[in-house]
Amino acid sequence: MMSQARISVLASGGGSNLQALIDHFAGPAASAGAITFVASERAEAGALDRARAAGIATGVIDAPLDSDAILSLLDTAKTDVLVLAGYLKLVPEEVVRAFRGRILNVHPALLPSFGGPGMYGMRIHQAVLDHGATLTGVTVHFVDEHFDRGPIIAQWPVPVLPGDDATLLAARVLRAEHRLLPLCVAAVASGAIVLGDDGRVHGHLDIPVSVHAPEWRFA
Ligand code: GRF
Repeated sequence: MMSQARISVLASGGGSNLQALIDHFAGPAASAGAITFVASERAEAGALDRARAAGIATGVIDAPLDSDAILSLLDTAKTDVLVLAGYLKLVPEEVVRAFRGRILNVHPALLPSFGGPGMYGMRIHQAVLDHGATLTGVTVHFVDEHFDRGPIIAQWPVPVLPGDDATLLAARVLRAEHRLLPLCVAAVASGAIVLGDDGRVHGHLDIPVSVHAPEWRFA
């Protein structure tokens, strides 16, 4: 990937994952890339406020299924890498094809479990609890034409604890998202991880701390 990749982010909500990306690329990963554009289908999305506060260009996606309009926004932003950080709309096929191997999504569960159409937000965590799962986690994957089905880049485990409700569990998983997503985006932006023509992920993610380090303990 480029010397310093231009990273665009699509987000529908409050943008805590976006904030984690902004902080990461303002600091340790500045050489790999920069967050240069943020768009949402919701003009009132908190993610746009966070972008503006960081001096990052923003846009509103008026028609989430209009691939030409989305591609025009991303082209104007000179996007090298596209990140879906809590973006709730299906990305049109033409956009996915244009960004094959350069479009990532974060999902707050261990795909392929608890993913697919309709599985978003609290529904995911409630489903994890309803099934009695004792382990959940975070998945970062390349995006393909189907919801939550692209090749997995990295996952991180998060325990389900006695007494958890969906809110408690979501908050614990979100902390893991904030750590894993920026590392994956930086790895793709720097070329350390690539999506091969074989449809498989090549390269590896340098998790800079031991899996037992307190920073990665989400219990
Ligand atoms: C996160 O849990 C993300 O995994 C899901 O939507 C939520 C977005 O949260 N797709 P935020 O807007 O990044 O705070």
